Amino acid sequence: MSKEIEDHRDLNPGTNEPFASVLERHVSRRSVMRGGLGLAAASMLGFGGAAQALASSTSHEKTPLGLAFESIAGSRSDAVVVPPGYTAQVLVPWGTPLSEKASAWRDDLAMTAERQAQSVGMHHDGMHGFPLDEASASRRFVLALNNEYIDQQALWAPQGGPTNAEEGARPAEESRTEINAHGVTLVEVVKEGDGRWSHVPGSPYNRRFTSATEMELAGPVAGSAYVRTKFSPEGRLTRGTNNNCGNGFTPWGTYLACEENWPNIFVNTGERFADDARIGIPTQRGRYGWETSAGDPSEANDEFARFDITPRGADAREDYRNEARTYGYQVEIDPYDGSRRAVKRTALGRFRHEGCWLGKLEPGKPVVFYSGHDARNEYIYKFVSAAGWDPADANRPGAAYDRLAIGAKYLDEGTLYAARFDADGSGEWLPLTPLAKSRDGRPLHEALGLAADDQAGIIIHTCDAADLMGATPMDRPEWASVDPASGEVYITLTNNSKRTAAGSEATFTNGGGAIDEPGVGFATAPVNEANPRPDNGAGHILRWREVDDGARFAWEVFVFGAAAADADNRSGLTEANQFASPDGLWYDDRGDGQGILWIQTDNGYEGVAEHTNDQLLAVVPAALEGGVVTPETQQHLKRFAVGPSGCEVTGIFATPDKTALFINIQHPGNWPAAEDATTATQGKVRPRASTVVIQKQDGGPIAV
Ligand code: FEO
Ligand code: CA
Ligand code: CA
Repeated sequence: MSKEIEDHRDLNPGTNEPFASVLERHVSRRSVMRGGLGLAAASMLGFGGAAQALASSTSHEKTPLGLAFESIAGSRSDAVVVPPGYTAQVLVPWGTPLSEKASAWRDDLAMTAERQAQSVGMHHDGMHGFPLDEASASRRFVLALNNEYIDQQALWAPQGGPTNAEEGARPAEESRTEINAHGVTLVEVVKEGDGRWSHVPGSPYNRRFTSATEMELAGPVAGSAYVRTKFSPEGRLTRGTNNNCGNGFTPWGTYLACEENWPNIFVNTGERFADDARIGIPTQRGRYGWETSAGDPSEANDEFARFDITPRGADAREDYRNEARTYGYQVEIDPYDGSRRAVKRTALGRFRHEGCWLGKLEPGKPVVFYSGHDARNEYIYKFVSAAGWDPADANRPGAAYDRLAIGAKYLDEGTLYAARFDADGSGEWLPLTPLAKSRDGRPLHEALGLAADDQAGIIIHTCDAADLMGATPMDRPEWASVDPASGEVYITLTNNSKRTAAGSEATFTNGGGAIDEPGVGFATAPVNEANPRPDNGAGHILRWREVDDGARFAWEVFVFGAAAADADNRSGLTEANQFASPDGLWYDDRGDGQGILWIQTDNGYEGVAEHTNDQLLAVVPAALEGGVVTPETQQHLKRFAVGPSGCEVTGIFATPDKTALFINIQHPGNWPAAEDATTATQGKVRPRASTVVIQKQDGGPIAV
């Protein structure tokens, strides 16, 4: 069940062509062509490289994995439902102490700032496991877990709710506790002899990064005038990470926590920068009003004042006007070395990053990461490293070496691109560099009013830069995942109520009259081939393949969300697999390119919500004749798990041996009642987001 913390103002001004119309064309041609993506592309695309690359992707020399479970029924209970023969266990719910000294959780526990800083954070989201050695990789690892945001009612349940949540000054201790409930949790977990998982209190790997933890800035923005603050006059440090939603991980063994809905923790009641307006910094009060705790006698180092970015001093080094410019990045964390600060890798752009997904890795070729900006009518991006991949930099669990130095090598220098999806099923990556030619022919730096060597300025104004280059406004890009064999990229477009009918005019935010005005975004955008449904409530999933050495790509729609009863049920979904608002996504690479695509939902679409809570589905793309989900192939898309009422199902990975699948249950309404995640709640419990481990009772690999 979708819980609205996104900023639904339309902040993207623009006239770029929407992606939806492209998709519809692909789907209609697919209904008459049975040759799959390759043949479709070969016949429709104007560039031979794409056609060739796509054709090669559909030659099924290997046998695709079979899904050895029956699709389960939808559920609307306060329990996790899994197929017969499977178990589901609650692991590290919110408030679990990371230290062996802290007392155990109680339902009537009054949370404090100090305790929260040493406990698992709230609202679990993206996550990944980092083995400590190869031999025990499937039984013991560091779990890195995003804590996206908070449920104030659950956090402050013993006192009946938060104080002054909407107006008036927040008590400093409440603000401090909420700040500490956000961020990232690192916690060592182990599989016991009986097959159950537990965390290791007091492990040297256990660690919290909160919205107050000191972090480094790296890449083009670091040390620039854009990020000088009273806290860091040199512009090299900041405090905290926030709204870490989807995640990423690197081949050198680090975790990437992605900053998504961070703009709303700040407020600016004075003169605004164009980038403040474009990204949507509030003008009256921050989301939680943390800035209202400023001036409390206990306040240290402007810990609350920094959330009010209104210019007050004579110079940026005397106030926090630039504090929000130290947010909106991909945050790299070394899960193995507790002495190292997290690093914000600014070269990958500044926006509401849903996540960060590694592209196909090839020796000597650049390292590629994809990311979507999750807001209505925002864009899809990719970062291409300047350095070529050296397999000697791959992670070696247990070895001592400087992973963050390797991170600097690949993530601090490179080129950021935004995606334009064309109606013929092709697309182009638009470079966000000072000298790139913008849509009106001017160099991008000039169109943005920046100096010709100001890459830092381009990054600060990433959204405006993408507007000016003509990127395609999308239906809220959420997670992506890459088939590591083919390099094909899947991305969820969760929904978009601001997608308008064909032929309508785009409208713009902040009173803007055109997409080319800095500080203005698309409020509404008409359907395009890649985002083909007006008022897209159910969402869809796209797939593309890089062509022309990554300068262009070929794309198509993989599946459309829908209720079975919908008239516009383009993929022919039934009661066994109806879903809406796809969000989490994971390509499980078992089968060497014939693997499983796992799809998680964050649904607010009534047609599906009346039948089932949020869910986890699975499909083997290579098993689909034609390569996509159609009315003829939809039976291969199966429902594997359903979450408890009120929740969102998000975050996913499996142990290397694929015997344990880890998912997260975020913002449940009344769960969990027991360590057995499948136990239905009786009465009312204080809800706790939690990781859930799904295993087979016979100990075998999941799903096959
Ligand atoms: Fe935090 Fe876009 O989901
Ligand atoms: Ca999400
Ligand atoms: Ca979502």
